[in-house]
Amino acid sequence: MRSRHCNWCCHDIGECEGMNAWVETIEVVVHEAAGGTDDTRVLRLARQDGAPLPAYRPGAHVDVYLPNDLVRQYSLCGPNPQASDYRIAVKRSSESRGGSAWLCSHAGNGTQLRIGLPRHAFGVDETAAHHILVAGGIGVTPVLSMAYALQASGKSFQFEYFVRSEADTVFRDEIMRSPLAAHTRIHPALAPDAVRERVAALLAESKPQSHLYVCGPAALMQMTAELARAALGDGNVHMEAFGPMAPAEAGEREFVVKLGSCSTAVVVPPARSVLACLRDAGHEIGSSCEVGVCGSCMMRVIEGEPDHRDSYLTDDERMAGTHFLPCVSRSKSPVLVLARDT
Ligand code: FES
Repeated sequence: MRSRHCNWCCHDIGECEGMNAWVETIEVVVHEAAGGTDDTRVLRLARQDGAPLPAYRPGAHVDVYLPNDLVRQYSLCGPNPQASDYRIAVKRSSESRGGSAWLCSHAGNGTQLRIGLPRHAFGVDETAAHHILVAGGIGVTPVLSMAYALQASGKSFQFEYFVRSEADTVFRDEIMRSPLAAHTRIHPALAPDAVRERVAALLAESKPQSHLYVCGPAALMQMTAELARAALGDGNVHMEAFGPMAPAEAGEREFVVKLGSCSTAVVVPPARSVLACLRDAGHEIGSSCEVGVCGSCMMRVIEGEPDHRDSYLTDDERMAGTHFLPCVSRSKSPVLVLARDT
């Protein structure tokens, strides 16, 4: 069943606490829960009545609305985007603020959950002559569905999978027993310098008009993206992050935010977020992840130039400059005028 509920307070129509940021959601049930590795659970989500779920494009993710009122993002990592179930993999994080820990501890066969519709912020560029897929750890999830799609369509690709150890390799057996094995290299237990050398080497050998896609820990993504942009050009590099990608920089500047063109100016100093400053000034702004990945704090830009630091908006949405994630993003202009995204 599809329903609509508030993306800020997570309540249904009629019970909303006032923000009314409606999103469409689907009720699903966990119909298979298995261990991926010691600290990873692989869950298959389906409608209770077995009816098809919306098709998605490889690389898509969904918001998962947890019973403890948290919203978390998980990539759809099944081999078939038209399937009647969605597969996600959840890694129990030592820094979990309640999302991955809840799913790893409580989600089992029969657990009911609510999810958003698939969101496509990451995916294969059909114009590429060759695709270089780079995954680190649990970052394999969006990349795996892309690898399956490239394999199925006979496209030229390679899949470079960096892991802490053999035992930590989610989907290892599945990958190595499938046709993906011929395109895949698993790189276990490399020190950061060795990872950098491998990435530099594979870029040095890359075919003309290659596109590179990377998902994984922030350090791997930043290093890979930096090398890949130099080798392939900005437009040929694609990233999917599930954590903050751009931490505060040295030399960060103060700016002013207004909520609506008439409101009083709120000063945002270098070390504080727009979200925190607006709340201090008495404005109620809903949020969930507070690291720029869920979209629940999204606001509209009325005036000014945002400095996007989130990993939620698509490239097109960033270019349009009409939306803003105040939990992590900042301003390039001295004044930014925002409105709630209702
Ligand atoms: S609270 Fe999740 S993007 Fe801001």
